[in-house]
Amino acid sequence: MDYLATNDIQDIVESDREHVWHHLIQHKPFETNEPRIIVEGKGMRVWDQKGKEHIDAVSGGVWTVNVGYGRERIANAVRDQLVKLNYFAQSAGSIPGAIFAEMLLDKMPGMKRVYYSNSGSEANEKVFKMVRQISHNKHGGNKSKILYRHRDYHGTTITTLSAGGQEQRNAQYGPYTPGFVEIPHCLEYRNQFDTAEDYGAACVKATEEVILREGPDTIGLICLEPITAGGGVITPPKGYWEGIQALCAKYEILLHIDEVVCGLGRTGTWFGYQHYGVKPDFVTMAKGVASGYAAISCTVTTEAVFDMFKDNASDPMSYFRDISTFGGCTAGPAAAIENMKIIEEENLLENCTKMGEYCLGLLNDLKSKHKVVGDVRGKGLFLGAELVKDRDTKEPVDEKLVQAVVGDCMANGVIIGATNRSVPGFNNTLCLSPALICTKDDLDKIVGAIDAALTRVFA
Ligand SMILES: Cc1ncc(COP(=O)(O)O)c(C=O)c1O
Repeated sequence: MDYLATNDIQDIVESDREHVWHHLIQHKPFETNEPRIIVEGKGMRVWDQKGKEHIDAVSGGVWTVNVGYGRERIANAVRDQLVKLNYFAQSAGSIPGAIFAEMLLDKMPGMKRVYYSNSGSEANEKVFKMVRQISHNKHGGNKSKILYRHRDYHGTTITTLSAGGQEQRNAQYGPYTPGFVEIPHCLEYRNQFDTAEDYGAACVKATEEVILREGPDTIGLICLEPITAGGGVITPPKGYWEGIQALCAKYEILLHIDEVVCGLGRTGTWFGYQHYGVKPDFVTMAKGVASGYAAISCTVTTEAVFDMFKDNASDPMSYFRDISTFGGCTAGPAAAIENMKIIEEENLLENCTKMGEYCLGLLNDLKSKHKVVGDVRGKGLFLGAELVKDRDTKEPVDEKLVQAVVGDCMANGVIIGATNRSVPGFNNTLCLSPALICTKDDLDKIVGAIDAALTRVFA
């Protein structure tokens, strides 16, 4: 890279240490240690400032680089688009915006409109604003409350944190936006109900109790991750989605699925909700939409939702009065078009399903070998392993030990993740989300590194 030719990498490290505020990290250790700089990526691998190679088992750290690094075809498409037209506000359309919307909706039967912005948080905020406006315009101010689930995450802004079910992400950032109400999580391994009912039914019943307590006429939306990500890789129990969908129909509550992590193939279908036959009113997506080659997020709605914002053209306040400046950047949809073509042409959904099953098998082998692995779960290439002190009590291991496993893997050239400052006492799930291009050999190396790390840390 040219800019490295004129700068010694050590100068870059020092500039970073002096001036850059990294995300989600305590900086005190950088007074004595070097921050990590990732310099280059190709396929499943990245190289740091020391030239050390790592297999990236978390797609850019946070489930993003679904098609892998170094895709010249995406870079070329973005470059060509930037030269032709880099930007115009989305009050007008763009060629890549129209093309990608059509390609995307083709994968989402029942959905009809795409609203562009540039982060997962922003895409979710759009839904919340739409629901509040529907409440004003259609329900006389009723149906403004939004239900969210314990352990789910929907973003970093104050309002998306208000819909956040992870106490440690939220703590110290209040006061929050009013009108958000929590429902219980659906992690069967940590069944919180003392009932003979099956777990899915118990979760749905508990959700209905919240609806009845708040009053169905106060609730406009339920917002859920299809599979909870940062809250512990939580696959829903049997019957859960059918029950939630039925509650939405019974109490006239709109359903919002946050596909920021699962979207664009992570679980082996285009979207996570498509495993469960769910019919959403809103779907949001970001990370994997362009695999991090450009910033893009989408808020996708049904035509019925869209119609509510155009059916009263004589009222100058009735349409969606919202803009995202960078939602007009054409690089996002230009990158997203190529990203989707790559997933299709290389059969990456199929590879995701096959490699996901293989990896789940490897993780189950780890569970047989290491008593500290209490539960293994996930779908496609979105997997987690929960670490416990004791399989009977399910007491979580100390999170320092979880981080020691992550650190050991990193030292041995494999980047894995773990739930982090999420649910107090439960930051104990190792997370894997390799790119959809991964091979059995990559997965053997990744899980082999975890195996060795567990042996060393819990010897
Ligand atoms: C499920 C989910 N929704 C929303 C977000 C927020 O996305 P962003 O960081 O792009 O704002 C995240 C980020 O991790 C996420 O995991």
